Amino acid sequence: MLDWMGLEQACAQCKGCGLCETRHNVVFGTGNQKADLMLVGEGPGEQEDLTGVPFVGPAGQLLDDMLSIIDLDRKTDCYIANIIKCRPPRNRDPLEIEQDACIEYLRNQVALIRPKIIVCLGRIAAMRLIDPKYRITHQHGQWVEKNSVWMTAIYHPSALLRDPSKRPETFEDLLSIREKLKEVRK
Ligand code: URA
Repeated sequence: MLDWMGLEQACAQCKGCGLCETRHNVVFGTGNQKADLMLVGEGPGEQEDLTGVPFVGPAGQLLDDMLSIIDLDRKTDCYIANIIKCRPPRNRDPLEIEQDACIEYLRNQVALIRPKIIVCLGRIAAMRLIDPKYRITHQHGQWVEKNSVWMTAIYHPSALLRDPSKRPETFEDLLSIREKLKEVRK
């Protein structure tokens, strides 16, 4: 296993898939490397590609608001990363081979952080980390324990921007995350 510096350097130079040809920046991850809570999105969008920071575009602003509802701050209370570290052209879904090429970086991040809770942001992360058959509309907010880590998924903030009718359900899911955090810290 690599240390943080080795991992970030390896990731910055990665040519593991074709996305290295079009990226401006690798979006490694950000936040508290000792956090109990890890948030995992899908992959960088345009703003993230330009800045190298996850969730800084419109979805990121909503994510910050969602966190503040349960008194969490992205810098101190969680670590935020993505399944893939480089932006897919026109924000298409990441391909299986791109995910396969990239997933080891995330595994390493999880191993270094050792979070108590992982929250998948959206379908792609949930399918990769919880269950390949994951159905976000039916299963969001449900908890599973895997390798001593509690895992759940909520709607991706971009989905909530597109369809605000999903927000009340997400509010419930956020409250459940707050409860789970209390539980695992006991
Ligand atoms: N959407 C994601 O899934 N991740 C980001 O970092 C930004 C938008």
